[in-house]
Amino acid sequence: MMEAEFNMGKILVLGGAGYIGSHTVYELLDKGYGVVVADNLETGHRQAVHPDAKLYIGDIRNREFVDGVFEKEEIDAVVHFAAYSLVGESMTDPLKYYGNNVGGTQVLLASMAAHGIDKIVFSSTAAAYGEPKRTPILETDPTEPTNTYGATKLAMEQMFKWTELAHGIRYTSLRYFNACGAHPSGEIGEDHRPETHLIPIVLQAANGTRPSISVFGTDYDTKDGTCVRDYIHVCDLAQAHAQAVRYLMDGGKSDIFNLGNGVGFTVREIINAAEGVVGHNIPTVFAERRAGDPAVLVASSDKAKSVLGWKPQYADIHAILETAWKWHRTHPKGFSEN
Ligand code: UFG
Repeated sequence: MMEAEFNMGKILVLGGAGYIGSHTVYELLDKGYGVVVADNLETGHRQAVHPDAKLYIGDIRNREFVDGVFEKEEIDAVVHFAAYSLVGESMTDPLKYYGNNVGGTQVLLASMAAHGIDKIVFSSTAAAYGEPKRTPILETDPTEPTNTYGATKLAMEQMFKWTELAHGIRYTSLRYFNACGAHPSGEIGEDHRPETHLIPIVLQAANGTRPSISVFGTDYDTKDGTCVRDYIHVCDLAQAHAQAVRYLMDGGKSDIFNLGNGVGFTVREIINAAEGVVGHNIPTVFAERRAGDPAVLVASSDKAKSVLGWKPQYADIHAILETAWKWHRTHPKGFSEN
């Protein structure tokens, strides 16, 4: 790679083969950063890693591996996505989540402190809030997670806070709401195994890779009885990570930011909008509520806009779904051979 490309700095993206991580790698490269990816490829996909990013395959729980990356590469800041993220699994196997999410972050921070790397952008979640006390949710609202996944992300945020006091590592923690959509190039998109998220499941029901979409609960206290969520495009999340890197490099203080569109859509509205985008009906069945689903989750992201200068580009749910559909239509088997 040309030296000039590193003028902006060199960023290590942990979990850069995953859904949000891979889109953030594209964005950082686009902004002129040098990018190094570390991923154990347990849930990430090698094909999702941009060819201009150098890939190290290994696990953040392995101190030697993490030390090795910091010794080989001159890293200016870390963006940390490397974690398990299935809410249901986190309830049946909580120690798996503590071991990787919390344990892995402890190893990472110890290695960063030892190598004098003092900036980290962290992938957090709306699940840190639990059942919201009001809408839209502000960063100062109570954090009472209702699942282990959210609890581990909150524990990681707290680890950053105390580590900064001792070792001077500054952080930004980005609490995303419902990440969705795909890169407009159609090269990368969402491919979780198993898939649990609404929009990919709706589009898989549309492209025939699954028979139908089940709507989990039609008796919530919302306008049509189905849950309301704040859907935010993955490229807008990627942009926020790049802005957060810049903010820390410019000397910004550690802080926590919500990332959402500030607009809620019901499950039925998403299915209707998706039918408009794909141009035909999507087979839908109605099912029981899924345990642990809050009725409404909508963010206030004013702080990210004013402090980080974040400007989400995808306000329209149809435009978001168009990008997701381009990915699912052209990659019905995700990153596997089509
Ligand atoms: N839903 C269905 N059918 C499905 C899948 C989902 O009706 O097959 C509904 C859910 O009940 C929910 C909505 O669609 O009301 C969105 O569900 P997702 O699973 O797509 O997303 P969640 O809101 O459950 O999860 C998101 C993030 C998690 C985070 C959580 C916080 O993906 O990482 O918000 O509550 F933990």
